Amino acid sequence: MRAVTWQGKRKVSVDEVPDPTIEQPTDAIIKVTSTNICGSDLHLYEVLGAFMTPGDILGHEPMGVVEEVGSETGDLKVGDRVVIPFQISCGSCYMCDSSLYTQCETTQVRDQGMGAALFGFSSLYGAVPGGQAEYLRVPQAQFTHIKVPEGPSDSRFVYLSDVLPTAWQGVEYASVPDGGSLTVLGLGPIGDMAARIAHARGIRVIGVDRVPERLERLRARGIEVIDLDAVDDIGEEIRIRTDGRGTDSVLDAVGMEAHGSPVATVLQQVTSVLPDALAQPLLQNAGVDRLSAVLSAIDIVRRGGTVALTGVYGGTADPLPLLTMFDKQIQLRMGQANVKKWVPDILPLLGDDDPLGVDSFATHELPLEQAPHAYDIFQKKQDGAVKIILKP
Ligand SMILES: NC(=O)c1ccc[n+]([C@@H]2O[C@H](COP(=O)([O-])OP(=O)(O)OC[C@H]3O[C@@H](n4cnc5c(N)ncnc54)[C@H](O)[C@@H]3O)[C@@H](O)[C@H]2O)c1
Ligand SMILES: [Zn+2]
Ligand SMILES: [Zn+2]
Repeated sequence: MRAVTWQGKRKVSVDEVPDPTIEQPTDAIIKVTSTNICGSDLHLYEVLGAFMTPGDILGHEPMGVVEEVGSETGDLKVGDRVVIPFQISCGSCYMCDSSLYTQCETTQVRDQGMGAALFGFSSLYGAVPGGQAEYLRVPQAQFTHIKVPEGPSDSRFVYLSDVLPTAWQGVEYASVPDGGSLTVLGLGPIGDMAARIAHARGIRVIGVDRVPERLERLRARGIEVIDLDAVDDIGEEIRIRTDGRGTDSVLDAVGMEAHGSPVATVLQQVTSVLPDALAQPLLQNAGVDRLSAVLSAIDIVRRGGTVALTGVYGGTADPLPLLTMFDKQIQLRMGQANVKKWVPDILPLLGDDDPLGVDSFATHELPLEQAPHAYDIFQKKQDGAVKIILKP
């Protein structure tokens, strides 16, 4: 089959690889019909390369049709139309019983000290072959799937794999009080969708980014936006707009490739040319995150407010302003989204009236073969690329 593989820093290719096969009774194989590129893939493309091996199949936002099932895949049948969550979870362990599917104890990547295995997400998360391919082996398939109805096009449902539940959890974790306000930092697919969800709930949303077309997508939906490059101090600008206080909550949907931290950029460049054995501990322990978005979030949030981190951060030793966080009495919540926890809440919003605008959410739909071009324009934010669906 054809699959998108990681080949090195900023280098992916589309190659012929062996078809996946059923390896465990709980496996299923799906024929992929749509498969998105995510901001998380850009971390692997650029800064987390030390955890990748050339030839690794990328991708964790697929949907398709069940092609083959093992003997223990529950009610999953050949021919079912399914979206596959980005995390692999069993549905029956202690963590899954608490709907903490990203912490599944059956699939936890214990040798790396990490939570549930993820598709296409480096050795840190189990080195599981990903879904930017013609076929995908789905482990723990008895639970790791979302059945969706026939009829509407893939774009209606494909964001259930990641964007929708991640944005939803971000808004939940931001704990905006009734009649309250939320700053969303970063208007990539995740921040954009979170802003739409919060706006639909009647929350006052202020979206922040520096890419004109990303700001425009929200402005066109009647959402207040600020161009980061047009203001001197984003915290000050938001306090001016909120009676000097800051918003009740802030959602960081930027992650470790935030714009504005030159020192970390140098460290990222250094680790990207070191051999993996040296770069991995440096990335994990010395911490090379670019914290500018988190630091903005801590500055922007009002005293006693909540900061939610949806953006992915990689290191462990970054300095955080603990004194300010303590003094402002900030609550902080974060983590990978527990996809299936939120699906029942989201499905009613995926009807023909399309209140969240999912049918027109993707800016590009490209053949799988064009993945190298797609990664390039998504990373460089060229050609208006905000969300790209690949078609195998
Ligand atoms: N928690 C989860 O389960 C989960 C799931 C999916 C994605 N993510 C993470 O969410 C983050 C966003 O994903 P995406 O697909 O939207 O990616 P993206 O890279 O397209 O979006 C990031 C946006 O942040 C903007 N930005 C950069 N620096 C900024 C700053 N200092 N202030 C404000 N905006 C800034 C960029 O211009 C860009 O538009 C990534 O870190 C991704 O890994 C987390
Ligand atoms: Zn994703
Ligand atoms: Zn589990």
